[in-house]
Amino acid sequence: MSVKIVVGTQFGDEGKGKIVDYLAGEADMAVRFQGGDNAGHTVINDCGIFKLHLIPCGVFNESCTCLIGTGTVVNPDVLIEEIDTLKQHGISVENLRISDKAQIIMPYHILMDEGMEKSGGIGTTKRGIGQAYASKFLRKNLRFEDLLKPETWQNKLREYISFINVQLRYFGIPEESEKKLMLKMRAWSDSLSPMVCDGFSLLHSFIDEDKLVLFEGQLGVMRDIDLGTYPYVTSSNPVAAYAAVSGGFPVSKIKEICGVAKAFTSAVGDGPFPTEMKESESTLLQGSGENPDDEYGARTGRRRRIGWLDIPMLKYAHKVNGFTELALTKLDKMDALKIIKICIGYTLDGLAINGLPDTDSLYHVVPVYKEFMGWQSPTTECKTFDELPENAKNYIEFIERQVGVPIHYIGNGPKRDKIIRHVVGL
Ligand code: GDP
Ligand code: IMO
Ligand code: MG
Repeated sequence: MSVKIVVGTQFGDEGKGKIVDYLAGEADMAVRFQGGDNAGHTVINDCGIFKLHLIPCGVFNESCTCLIGTGTVVNPDVLIEEIDTLKQHGISVENLRISDKAQIIMPYHILMDEGMEKSGGIGTTKRGIGQAYASKFLRKNLRFEDLLKPETWQNKLREYISFINVQLRYFGIPEESEKKLMLKMRAWSDSLSPMVCDGFSLLHSFIDEDKLVLFEGQLGVMRDIDLGTYPYVTSSNPVAAYAAVSGGFPVSKIKEICGVAKAFTSAVGDGPFPTEMKESESTLLQGSGENPDDEYGARTGRRRRIGWLDIPMLKYAHKVNGFTELALTKLDKMDALKIIKICIGYTLDGLAINGLPDTDSLYHVVPVYKEFMGWQSPTTECKTFDELPENAKNYIEFIERQVGVPIHYIGNGPKRDKIIRHVVGL
C-alpha cells in the first residue's frame, strides 16, 4: 500500500483532522498538499486538544515524517507558532519538513485579503490565502527555497514591492516597507531553513519504497476553486487528484481515497447552502461553543451554518474524487434528534434535477427530503457497528447505498479512539 488520500466531501470541517490523526498511527508519512492556515483541523488524543492549521495531523506519531507540501501556501509566523505550541506539549517536530516549492504567505497578502473582505468579500478566513495563490499564479511570489538564498529573496522582494504597494494603495492600506519585509525573511530563514527540503525527492523516496503516505486535504470539494460554488470558494483544489498534481507523482500511485463526511452538513463563509436549517432548528447540532466539538470555526471561531446531510452533494464529491471509502463523523451529535432528514435530490422551478446545478441555481433549488426516525439513545460507548441503535444503522446504510461507497469509519465522539471500524459496508 502506498498512497492514501483523505479529503473533505462537503464545505470543510468534516473532521479530517481526527481521521488523519487516527490513520496516521500506521502511516510513514503525512502530507498537507493544498491550502494554508485557513485550515483548522481538530485533534483530540492523549497528548491534548489541538487545532492544527499547517502541520499535518500525523505529527502525533513520532515515526511519521510530516511534509508541508508543494501545493500549500504557508504563513511562516503561524508555522513557527504552531511548532512552538506542539513543542510545549512535548510533541516532537523532528520529522517535520517543508517543501522547497511551498509558497510563502507574506504580510501584505493578509492585508489585501482584509481589504478585499471590507469591500464586499465572500467571507474568507482573512489569512491571505487567495492573495498568496494570486501572486503564485502571477509568478511573483517567494517560495521556501528562497529562504535559503538571501541574495535571491532580496532581489525578488525589491522587484515585487512596488507592484504590491500599488495594490495596497488601492485598498487604502499603508505601504509595506522593504526593510521590514527583509527583516521578516531573515527571521524566517533562521527559524525554518533547517526544515526546508526537496519535497519532490522526499515524497518519491517514500512512494518508491511502498511506504504508507497519507495525504491530508484541507477544506472540501464544495469550496474547490474550479469545482465548488464559485466565487464562494477557496483558491486551491481540495480534491484527491491535486495531491498527485502538486506532489509530482503519477495518479496511478493512489491506492485509496477516503472521503470524510459529517453526518449532517456545516459551512462557514457566504454562498449557497441548499439544506441549511434555521438557527432555531439547529441548536442541538450547533452546541454552545463551550465544547471543542461544537459547531464553531476551528480557525476563525465563526458560528458554522448547519444543514441536513445532502446526498446530491456527496454523490458529486464521489464523482470528482472517486472514493474507495467514506468516514462518517459526528454520528453521536445526532443522538438526541427525534426526526432526522436527508436530502435525496433537488427540484428547480418545480422540476426534479440531476446532480448539482450552477452556483446561482443552487440558491434556488428546493431539497427533497427523506425523513428518518432518530435513535434517541447514546452512541458514544458503542464499539462495533452491531452495537449501534437500529435507526442509526439504517441511517448509515442508507447513506452507503445512496452514495455507492462503503462507510469504513464511523465517528461517535471527538476523541481519537471514538471511531467504529465498519468493514462490511454496502
Ligand atoms: P476538519 O477541518 O475537517 O479537520 O474538521 P474540524 O476540526 O474543523 O471540525 C470538526 C469538529 O468535529 C471538531 O471539533 C472535531 O473535534 C469534531 N469531531 C470530529 N469527529 C467527531 C465525531 O465523530 N464526534 C464528535 N462529537 N465530534 C467529532
Ligand atoms: P478546514 O480545512 C471551513 C472557507 C471560508 C470562505 C472560503 C474562502 O478546516 O476544513 P479562504 O480563507 O480559504 O480564502 O476562504 O473558504 N474556508 C473554510 N471553511 N473550513 C476550512 O478549512 C476553511 N478554509 C476556508 O470560510 O468561505
Ligand atoms: Mg476545520
